[in-house]
Amino acid sequence: MSIIATSLLLFGATGDLSRRMLIPSLFGLAADGLLHPDLRIIGTARSALDVAEFRSLAAAALEQGIEADRRPAAAVAAFLDRLAYVSLDANQPDGFSALAAEVGDPARLAIFLSTAPSLFGPTIAGLAGAGLAAQGARLALEKPLGHDLASSCAINDAVASAYPESRIFRIDHYLGKETVQNLLALRFGNILFEPLWNAAGISSVQISVGETVGLEKRGDYYDGMGALRDMLQNHMLQLLALVAMEPPARLNPTDVRDEKVKVLRSLRPITAADVESHSVRGQYAAGAIHGQPVPAYLDELGRASDTETFVALKAHVDNWRWKGVPFYLRTGKRMPERVSEIIVQFRAVPHSMFGSAALQPNKLIISIQPDENVGLMMMAKLPGLDRDGLKLRAVPLDIGLPGAFADVRRRIAYERLLLDLIEGRQTLFVRRDEVEAQWQWIDAIRAGWASTGMAAKPYAAGAWGPSAAIALTERDGVSWHD
Ligand code: BG6
Repeated sequence: MSIIATSLLLFGATGDLSRRMLIPSLFGLAADGLLHPDLRIIGTARSALDVAEFRSLAAAALEQGIEADRRPAAAVAAFLDRLAYVSLDANQPDGFSALAAEVGDPARLAIFLSTAPSLFGPTIAGLAGAGLAAQGARLALEKPLGHDLASSCAINDAVASAYPESRIFRIDHYLGKETVQNLLALRFGNILFEPLWNAAGISSVQISVGETVGLEKRGDYYDGMGALRDMLQNHMLQLLALVAMEPPARLNPTDVRDEKVKVLRSLRPITAADVESHSVRGQYAAGAIHGQPVPAYLDELGRASDTETFVALKAHVDNWRWKGVPFYLRTGKRMPERVSEIIVQFRAVPHSMFGSAALQPNKLIISIQPDENVGLMMMAKLPGLDRDGLKLRAVPLDIGLPGAFADVRRRIAYERLLLDLIEGRQTLFVRRDEVEAQWQWIDAIRAGWASTGMAAKPYAAGAWGPSAAIALTERDGVSWHD
C-alpha cells in the first residue's frame, strides 16, 4: 500500500486547467470525504497572489464548475481552508525554498505540474534542489510533454534525473474517463468478446473523437501542434492500445502498461510511401455547427497556417492477433457533434441460411462521450408471418451506463486521476516507454507529410473532415459510423 500524500503541490494553480478541472475535482473529492483530513493543497504560479486571493480564485472556480446544490457553504469553507499559495518564478531557484517550507514532509508530497514546457527543466531542478524530489515525493506531468520524440525524451530525461519512473505520473486524461476504463471491464470481465477479439472475428475497428469547438483562445499552442499531436498522439493511441492489447495478468501498473506498450510498438509505421493512402489532413473553413455559423480556422487564428485541425489515419497493429485488421482513427475540431466512440466491426457469419435476407455483421459501439453507452448491434427477426421468408433487421442491445448505475455520481476524469496520484496508484498513468513509442510512430507520419508536401485539405466547419476522409475507409468497403 502506497503512502497517502498529505501535501499536494499544484504548479500552474491559477491557470485554465486548474480552474476548470483541478480545483473542482479536488473539491468533489473533499466534499465526499475522500481526501485525507490532513491533506493541504498548495497552489503555486507566477502571479503575486496572497492566500486569501488564491482562495477567492478557487471559490470562483467552484461557482463556475460545480452546481449550486453540490457545494454547501460549509463544504466550500472547509475546502478553501485546505488551500495555501506560494508565488514562484520557476526560473528563480531561490523561490523553491519558500515552497519547501510550506510543503513540510516531502515523503508525503504529490506534485502536479501543469506548466509551459519551457519551465519543465527549471522546475524539476528547483524541486530537486529544495529537497522536494526526496524519497516518496510523486510527480504528475500534464501535457504537452514535448512536441516530438526528441523533445519528449529531453523532458523525460530531465524528470528522470530527479524522480524514478515509479514516482512519475504522466497524465492522459482520457484514461481517467469512466467509459475508457469500462473498456477493460467489457473486454476482460466478460467471456463473450475475447474469443472473437482478433482478426478472425473482427474485420475493422474505428475510433472517432469529434469536437465542435474550434481554437478556443489556444491559438499559439494549437497551431504549433495540430490534431495529430494534440489528440491522436496521446488520447487516441491510448484508446487503440486498450482495444488491441493482450489480456494483462493483473490490473496493476506493470502488467497493464506492458501490454499497452507492446501494441504501440507493433503499430506499422506510416511512412512517406503511404501517407497519401493512409492519412488525411484537414483544416476547417467557415461553416455551421448546430445551425450556428462559425468562422474558418485561419480567421480565428488571424494568420496563414497549414496546421491540420482534422486528421484521419488507417493504422495496422502488426502482430498475430490483428493481422490485416485496419484501425481507422479520426479526430477533429469543428465536427458536427462532440462525440468519442469506438466501433468494433465483427465479421459476417460464415454461411447464411436466410436466403436473400440481408445479414449485417455484428457491431459493438462503445460510446465514451457525451453518451456513456455500450451497444451491440444484433440481427433480430422482424415480427410478421414471413410467408416470403424471414426478414431480419439489426437492433441494438444497449447498456446505457448512467441508467444502469443511476445512483452513482459520474465523476470527471481528473477526480480519479488526482486521487490516484495522492494515493499512489500508477495504473492509469502513462509510462515513459509508451509515450516514446507513441511519438516515434507519430514522428514518422509527420516526416512523411513534410517530405511529400501533403497539405491540409479544407473542410466546411460542421462536416466530418474533408471528403478524402470518407474515401480512406470507402476504398476498403467500410463506412465511418456517423
Ligand atoms: C486535450 C486537447 O488534450 O483534450 C484539446 O489538448 C481537446 O484540444 C481536449 O479539446 C479534449 O478533451 P475532452 O475530455 O473534452 O474530450
